[in-house]
Amino acid sequence: MLNDSWPLPHAIAYGGDYNPEQWPREVWDDDVALMRQAGVNLVSVGIFSWALLEPEEGVFDFGWLDELLDLLHANGIAVDLATPSVSPPAWFFAAYPQAQVRNADGVTMGFGSRGMASHASPEYRAAIVRVADALARRYGQHPAVVLWHVHNEYGVPVGEDFSEQSVRSWRQWLQQRYGTLAALNEAWGTAFWGQWYHHWEHVVAPATTPTTINPAMKLDWARFTDDQLRECFRLERDAIRAHAPQPITTNFMAHQSWNTDLWKWAQEVDIVSDDHYLWSPDPEAHVALALSADLTRSVAGGRPWILMEHSTSAVNWQGRNIAKEPGEMQRNALTHVGRGADAIMFFQWRASRSGAEKFHSAMLPHAGPSSRVFREVTELGSQLKQLGELQDSRVRAEVAVLYDWESLWAQDLQWRPSDDLQFRERMRTFYERLWRDGVPVDFAHPGDDLSGYRLVVAPASYLLTTADAANLTSYVRTGGTLLVSCFAAAVDSHDAVHAGGFGAPLADALGVRVEEYRPLRAGSTCTVAFGEHTLEADVWTEDLVLDGAEVLGRYGSPAKGGATAGAPAITRHRAGEGTGWYVSTRLGLDALAPVLEAVYADAGIVPADHPEGVELMTRHGQNHDYVIAVNHRDEEVTVAMDGTNILTGDRLGGELRLSAGRVAVVRTVASLRVPTPDHPQLISTQ
Ligand code: GAL
Repeated sequence: MLNDSWPLPHAIAYGGDYNPEQWPREVWDDDVALMRQAGVNLVSVGIFSWALLEPEEGVFDFGWLDELLDLLHANGIAVDLATPSVSPPAWFFAAYPQAQVRNADGVTMGFGSRGMASHASPEYRAAIVRVADALARRYGQHPAVVLWHVHNEYGVPVGEDFSEQSVRSWRQWLQQRYGTLAALNEAWGTAFWGQWYHHWEHVVAPATTPTTINPAMKLDWARFTDDQLRECFRLERDAIRAHAPQPITTNFMAHQSWNTDLWKWAQEVDIVSDDHYLWSPDPEAHVALALSADLTRSVAGGRPWILMEHSTSAVNWQGRNIAKEPGEMQRNALTHVGRGADAIMFFQWRASRSGAEKFHSAMLPHAGPSSRVFREVTELGSQLKQLGELQDSRVRAEVAVLYDWESLWAQDLQWRPSDDLQFRERMRTFYERLWRDGVPVDFAHPGDDLSGYRLVVAPASYLLTTADAANLTSYVRTGGTLLVSCFAAAVDSHDAVHAGGFGAPLADALGVRVEEYRPLRAGSTCTVAFGEHTLEADVWTEDLVLDGAEVLGRYGSPAKGGATAGAPAITRHRAGEGTGWYVSTRLGLDALAPVLEAVYADAGIVPADHPEGVELMTRHGQNHDYVIAVNHRDEEVTVAMDGTNILTGDRLGGELRLSAGRVAVVRTVASLRVPTPDHPQLISTQ
């Protein structure tokens, strides 16, 4: 239940996880003094503090937390108060060993880490409600507390749980979902390999099996796991809500999560928050960051959201943990702002001396306040202070990219036609094409109302229900432009091939059906003749049967096993008032460029005209628009623009000069917003 009350009115929140329990009391005073110096106005407290708060079952010690919240409040620093449910104390597992998580191989996850508790365990559930209730009663009226932070990153490190209780809950969940065993057998296609169930108590969880497991069962297991996590969130949230008026959140991990369907989760929180870390092997990690930020804003329904965690420099959990370049942290942070974040937070305030994360960067690193990182942290704090007027300004997009966690779960199952065609890769490549073209996007679920978008792109819609396909079809028929990438609408919600064959539910919108998938051998490529272009493709081809579509691209040089030369590869179909495009092969970034150019022309989208490597994002406010410009290049660039650079106070005389690696936030006159005739509900920013 997303709510519009922002915890810090008219300000961009700034801070991070604060774990003072790892330090002697006298350090706390240094901390708050340095926080003030750095411009910190919000910290997340108590995420891992259960063992201190409840040293024995039912016995609470709030003394240290009382003192801490008072100290922070006296220094003008607001608190995002966490519940510690991600890390139950040692006594809990000693008392309730049955609440430990068991993995798919039957191994019990031991104490000494975090996230070890079974979300199905009644003892765990009772304990998390007791702590949330105690915290909310004690601090619900505390003036420092402006936000509640339930748990930490649901589904990580543990989502799936094969403990006895979890398997019992699974059977109950299935009984509720299917009612009868006959319905379950039907949905799971248990006629295949003789897997019929005749008794509920024989229904197993998808633990380790000799060979590939029933995919429909595995897909339901993903739904069940997600539901279990969400049930635990709701228990804590409701315990807090009974005594505390502040908004409640939990930190998501957008494109980096697997276990959580964030379209559903966003309905449960008051404010969406997200954690994002750069993946160092990715040379263009800032594109993944942008994708994650756009996805987060989209699940938040366009409302302001919180970047709950990112890093000031290196993380510690990748094979090679690369420190950020000078200025990179600022680019990262302001890109999140440009894509709708109204809070910039880090893991964590002060680097830990002990424990698993001592090599992780922090706002205050081991090197102390004289370090480069702390100087940059302080600079960023003062910049964000100048950006208070951006709070609640909104991002707008004319393009929606379809993103469905169920389709991700399904496509990730085993024994697909090719391991090389991956949901995340397709999502990233299509997104990056749009990013490079300077076309702002929202993400959407295929069942959403899409009528406000000129263009809808479906990079990875392997699982598409007939209802969602009908939604896309009516979007096209009423004037929308739809671009669908290969291996789409193959299966329904039980991972069963659609009646009528691959892609059948989209045949009306696309004017084409798929007769056979023809994936390529590793390393093979083929070409597609598209107008004057010869596009290079790899991994995947399809045999298409035309059903009204025109052919705009044909397979050229065939790869062995792939579609034959001259066969249709890229099609376009007029359906009703709109147009459906289909790309039946895997095109890379460059090959997608001319295809997207043609699709933009159909949809009436004008890509931004700006230098390559410069990221421009616009937030629309009541009286002004704000352009956040990030220069990812190693040289100065010039961009045509009018307005005032808020960060420097400079008035621009028609152009913004941005030196290498720098960022500007430009206040411009709000653009004219006129509904266009063919999209009366659409806001034009031309
Ligand atoms: C996050 C987690 C934090 C910290 C951080 C390190 O996923 O929520 O507690 O571990 O990673 O990058």
